[in-house]
Amino acid sequence: MNVDGRHYRTIWLKDSDPTVVQIIDQRHLPHEFVIEDLTSVEAVARAIKEMHVRGAGLIGATAGYGMAIAALHAPRTSPQAFMAALTAAGETLKATRPTAVNLEWAVKRQLSVIEAAGNDIEVKIQTAFDMAQTIADEDADFCRRIGQHGLPLIEAISRRKNGEPVNILTHCNAGWLAFVDYGTATAPIYAAHDQGVAVHVWVDETRPRNQGARLTAWELGQHGVPHTVIVDNVGGHLMQHGLVDLVITGTDRTTYTGDVANKIGTYLKALAARDNGLPFYVALPSSTFDWEMRDGLAEIPIEQRDGTEVSYIGGLHDDSIKTVRLTPATSPAANFAFDVTPARLVTGLITERGICDASEAGILGLFPDKKPSA
Ligand code: MRU
Repeated sequence: MNVDGRHYRTIWLKDSDPTVVQIIDQRHLPHEFVIEDLTSVEAVARAIKEMHVRGAGLIGATAGYGMAIAALHAPRTSPQAFMAALTAAGETLKATRPTAVNLEWAVKRQLSVIEAAGNDIEVKIQTAFDMAQTIADEDADFCRRIGQHGLPLIEAISRRKNGEPVNILTHCNAGWLAFVDYGTATAPIYAAHDQGVAVHVWVDETRPRNQGARLTAWELGQHGVPHTVIVDNVGGHLMQHGLVDLVITGTDRTTYTGDVANKIGTYLKALAARDNGLPFYVALPSSTFDWEMRDGLAEIPIEQRDGTEVSYIGGLHDDSIKTVRLTPATSPAANFAFDVTPARLVTGLITERGICDASEAGILGLFPDKKPSA
């Protein structure tokens, strides 16, 4: 996607030194566009944990590059010592954030190809860099295809409304900043906009870290997509008054039975959509399915983050970023970062292979090759 007219991905290798990974440090958006260099596994782990990068697909891609950096710095004394260092790096990366399954998926994928690459350490290192690139390229390509599969949903509503803008509500940031490019929930929106279909996006601010207000609003603005930022509790009211045609969100982990973990507050939007008879779609690449998990509510680990993200808020004031306290100094704050929307509330899943029902039969119908082991 373009920033000030120039194409960027969210993660890449530095042109002048391809052993350095570069990211957009999203903590500074929308007020500053900062590029950060990552040169060690510790720096990669910090970037994921402290949310310089975030969003399921990008967390996975960053872990992929993190494993490549780990390979570069691992001891070359023997293949065993090399693999032990990589396994330890994988554990460090996996411990950063628990909910997005792409993280674990990328680490496992790296370990298995590096292990299989023979005993020549140089070959193993090259394999790790190649795999990091493959994970990133696949993510971008899958998101582009999600856009193509989701586009007809928006076109159908547009036709029904005789070309009046299609109002789409989204939560958090499942845009290109959450992936390597295009995004998931936003991909059909960008595809529709680029084809001249009139769209308007209601952007949930998404407390406490405001990924909607800061990130989704910024990237839609960069792409010229009409949008309005709303506070998190407005969606139900808009739906009751006919001001939402469609809800599309992303997900950080979806069970093979269709239960969807996504940013806290998603479940309430799904309930409101159901009460108002509105379609609620979730867009995801296959890397975000958990092929081992059946029961989302019981099994998906829900990240709890520091309460200071709730009790403080940051923003631009007099040209500098300030953080201010919102709550009484003595009031404790709880910070559950994700919730689970049961499959029964999800109209459909938009994937790189097409749209399916949020059910075991629907998902495995589209991904028969992923059938979980009994
Ligand atoms: O805590 P984050 O910002 O990493 O959460 C991920 C999200 O942005 C959302 O839950 C998103 O809708 C998932 S799609 C990447």
